[in-house]
Amino acid sequence: MMAGARVLSRAGAAARSVAPGLCRGWCSSPGKEPAQQPQVTPMLRHLTYKIKATGPISVAEYMREVLTNPAQGYYVHHDMLGEKGDFITSPEISQIFGELLGIWFVSEWMATGKSPAFQLVELGPGRGTLAEDILRVFSQLGSVLRSCDISVHLVEVSEKLSETQAATLTKEKAPLERHTGAPMYMKGVTKSGLPIYWYRDLRDVPKGYSFYLAHEFFDALPIHKFQKTPQGWREVLIDIDPQASDRLRFVLAPGATAAEAFIQPDEARDHVELSPDAGVVIQELAQRISLKGGAALIADYGHDGTKTDTFRGFCSHRLHDVLTAPGTADLTADVDFSYLRRMAQGRVAALGPLQQQTFLKNMGIDVRLKVLLDKSDEPSLKQQLLQGYDMLMNPKKMGERFNFFALLPHQRLLGTNCQMNTRQSEPSASSVAGFGELTWR
Ligand SMILES: C[S@@+](CC[C@H](N)C(=O)[O-])C[C@H]1O[C@@H](n2cnc3c(N)ncnc32)[C@H](O)[C@@H]1O
Repeated sequence: MMAGARVLSRAGAAARSVAPGLCRGWCSSPGKEPAQQPQVTPMLRHLTYKIKATGPISVAEYMREVLTNPAQGYYVHHDMLGEKGDFITSPEISQIFGELLGIWFVSEWMATGKSPAFQLVELGPGRGTLAEDILRVFSQLGSVLRSCDISVHLVEVSEKLSETQAATLTKEKAPLERHTGAPMYMKGVTKSGLPIYWYRDLRDVPKGYSFYLAHEFFDALPIHKFQKTPQGWREVLIDIDPQASDRLRFVLAPGATAAEAFIQPDEARDHVELSPDAGVVIQELAQRISLKGGAALIADYGHDGTKTDTFRGFCSHRLHDVLTAPGTADLTADVDFSYLRRMAQGRVAALGPLQQQTFLKNMGIDVRLKVLLDKSDEPSLKQQLLQGYDMLMNPKKMGERFNFFALLPHQRLLGTNCQMNTRQSEPSASSVAGFGELTWR
């Protein structure tokens, strides 16, 4: 068997459960009532002490505490993915998703001159499933990538998930090196023999020619919420409900708050959600890509600066009230791609957002599905492949809600292979796989 390959069926298809689950891109769970558990969780106690001591907190502070507090954060100690978790994501649904993303990185590597080395950097890798599928493609394209020195870098705050990622991605017999408290807190060797490292913060990943990947990462970053009022913008805060000391409620700040500086002067909406943390990550990515080369591929549910109130929670595949039983449910908000583009500050070219169904079609999902179906002689596997395809591509499921967005060095679009879009007098994105049809050069 090829190095790095998982246990595959004869068709080359990995068994993956496609039990109907709720994806976080949806804002409603049809036929299901939101789960409401009026529990006093340790996180609720922590937050009420905090609010009593310092006053109402921003939604961003609430999200940061609930999701990534080192002692009790939802992400830090849960495996929230899959049937038994709280939601399902594309890589967990179908192997084809990760395979096509693997091909995207190889295609970009080839289009930009086949650098002798690159880092694959994934932000928020979940169970490591996406990285596993990508690394399988790298192994399968070994003859193309043979001379390239590849290393894998995972940015993960969750101790629990980093252990799951290590179990998915590393060799059983090669021990992991642990450096508790250090910026690079774990190190190992992947099943295909590549060095792999774990960090909590992107800023600790070595700067070098890199391909960055963030799938359903930005939607987990804290947001500030603002409401337009006759007195101007007011930030939405979280306070203790005066009617019940173990319940939280939303209030409006009495005056302007510092985070208001992030709102555009010509903002037309009456409610906006902004993530300074997402801005910091994008600025770091843009700076790295402009200085060292590479690309970033960001896939998430979101909008291009049009939506207003998208803050929501998920627990056991149901929508969950965001202020109830904090710490037991996932919290998320749609990604505002127009904001990400603005935060890149023109240092790099930004492509997208492009709907998932279009991106995957351009990447050849139909051809890959056909190959797997033709090779498969197991009816259950065929059905699983078809269900997975439907979930990823159907506009009513993940096909339209999820988008792809890429950051690339400006010279990538101005390169010799670039086609000029004469109508717009701008370099065309169609020379970039996914944003145009995939062509091997
Ligand atoms: C919604 S899950 C997505 C997992 C995976 N990418 C997928 O699509 O299946 C979000 C991931 O980001 C991680 N995460 C959340 N906030 C983070 C942060 N501030 N820094 C690094 N990782 C974070 C979580 O632990 C988790 O691995």
